[in-house]
Amino acid sequence: MPIKLAVPNEIMPDERRIALEPGVAKRLIDMGVEVCMEKGAALSAHFSDSDFAGVTIIDTPEELYKGANLIFKVQPPTLEELDMIEDGATVVGFMQPHKNKELTEKMCHKGLISLAMELVPRISRAQSMDALSSQAAIAGYKGVIMGADLASVFFPMLTTASGTIRPAKVLVIGAGVAGLQAIATAKRLGAVVEAYDVRLATREQCESLGARFIDTGVSADGEGGYARELTDEEKQQQQDVLAKHIAHSDVVISTAAIPGKPSPKIISKEMVHDMKIGAVIVDLASEGGGNCELTQPGETIFIDHRVTIAGPLNVASQTPVHASEMYARNLFNLISPFITEDGNLELDFNDEVIAKSVLLCEGVVKSTRLRREEITR
Ligand code: NAI
Repeated sequence: MPIKLAVPNEIMPDERRIALEPGVAKRLIDMGVEVCMEKGAALSAHFSDSDFAGVTIIDTPEELYKGANLIFKVQPPTLEELDMIEDGATVVGFMQPHKNKELTEKMCHKGLISLAMELVPRISRAQSMDALSSQAAIAGYKGVIMGADLASVFFPMLTTASGTIRPAKVLVIGAGVAGLQAIATAKRLGAVVEAYDVRLATREQCESLGARFIDTGVSADGEGGYARELTDEEKQQQQDVLAKHIAHSDVVISTAAIPGKPSPKIISKEMVHDMKIGAVIVDLASEGGGNCELTQPGETIFIDHRVTIAGPLNVASQTPVHASEMYARNLFNLISPFITEDGNLELDFNDEVIAKSVLLCEGVVKSTRLRREEITR
């Protein structure tokens, strides 16, 4: 059956991204796909309906989903959206199955095929489909811009008639995709940058971007290139070394995460109280509870009128044009190899990327990673 793609308005509050952009829409139409989008769905990302040449604009979600066999989403569908989605359709987007057990159950009952963007394997061939990376890079960039905005000092060194201004000291904790982009952005703004990660493999990457790497003597490389959780002794050793670097920093950008676990607490209350007047923490790990003990996810708070702690959520959504463009291209690169010449979708479940990305297929939880964690059933 030829593909009828539906792209709805994202209804989660504060979600400004959309899972389509005009260039991707055109490429899909050229491949024989009927592309439909809900009226005004891209306005929050600053695209108007008229930017999407060749796309059928549909007034209501009920009409949009009618007959659609492929759905592109950013956020997981809601239970109400699921009621409108046709049985057996393929839904692609971030699925957050850990947070959405009821939703996963319901998708199973409807016999949906669900591809979860967070399950796309981190292998070289899948880099162009890696939405975790594209969105994390945006978060790293935006986190530094937020830090610069909240900071009470300039980032670059300035020689002025009123004297020389020292450059800001920025510390980046966690040097994954977001952290490396944060280092690059802070350097471009002229700050002196230090960086830290428990995976020693990141030392070279941090240094190549111009940051000084802090070695705490703790190395915690885990499975698949991710970090493992630290023991209590390792945490103490890490904190002892990091404390003095945090105390000297004007801005700390923290991005440390461990897959499937709450964010590790790295910055204690005491460390915050020892920070410089006017210092800022931008806790990009807020989604998982934050790397700082005092972070309040979704809030910006002031401690003793000295230190600002920002705990932004869904940061990529705050740069919606590029975030949507990159995300839509990730979806296109994942799906397009399986669009046949006559515009049908024929997913190959033996393909490594599809096999690892598929969360559900025809009512069964396929992801071995998630089955192990007993998501549902
Ligand atoms: P992430 O968002 O899961 O974590 C961010 C960083 O926090 C990681 O670098 C991690 O080592 C660090 N971290 C965890 N606990 C920490 C602690 N207690 N103290 C300090 N740092 C801590 O990471 P992300 O950005 O998703 O990258 C994960 C891995 O995937 C990396 O090895 C990365 O190189 C790899 N990757 C591979 C790709 C590919 O080959 N296609 C694409 C993107 C990432």
